Amino acid sequence: MKAAILYTSLTGNTRKAGELIAGNLQQEGWGITTVCPLNGLEMGGIQDADMVIVGTWVHGLFVVGQAPWNLGAIANLPPMRGKLSASFCTFALNPGKSLDKLDRALSQVGTEVIGGLALHRAKLEEHTEEFAARLVANTPARA
Ligand SMILES: Cc1cc2nc3c(=O)[nH]c(=O)nc-3n(C[C@H](O)[C@H](O)[C@H](O)COP(=O)(O)O)c2cc1C
Repeated sequence: MKAAILYTSLTGNTRKAGELIAGNLQQEGWGITTVCPLNGLEMGGIQDADMVIVGTWVHGLFVVGQAPWNLGAIANLPPMRGKLSASFCTFALNPGKSLDKLDRALSQVGTEVIGGLALHRAKLEEHTEEFAARLVANTPARA
């Protein structure tokens, strides 16, 4: 399986999470075609990937109004029909319904959504390992 990891990050947690996920998936034998920010997409890497993994951070009023940052940019990614997708978001207190919103945005660009996970910013290593393990376990094999 080849994955492209796209992220947006203000203070670095989500970028770090993306890099950790890339390392974890590589250990499982996956190829990583790119780890790039949403505002600097590497189109070749995205094209070569079977799966796009999109990560962002939760913003809001901590217990209400939470949403994934840059959701509009995610919903407006180039059409990616035929690719699988998964999402993650980093958060401090409570991610609210951020993952559902990410799933919807990724469906909108034509991908088949496998799932997502909210990663606590203080537990990035543990939670990125869990995310990668779940992805590997839940991704259908492709011919
Ligand atoms: C303006 C702002 C609003 C935030 N709102 C929330 C929130 O509503 N709920 C939450 O759990 N975390 C919230 N956070 C915490 C971030 O989601 C968390 O620190 C995240 O890991 C930041 O990712 P980054 O380092 O990639 O920018 C907020 C952070 C900022 C700067």
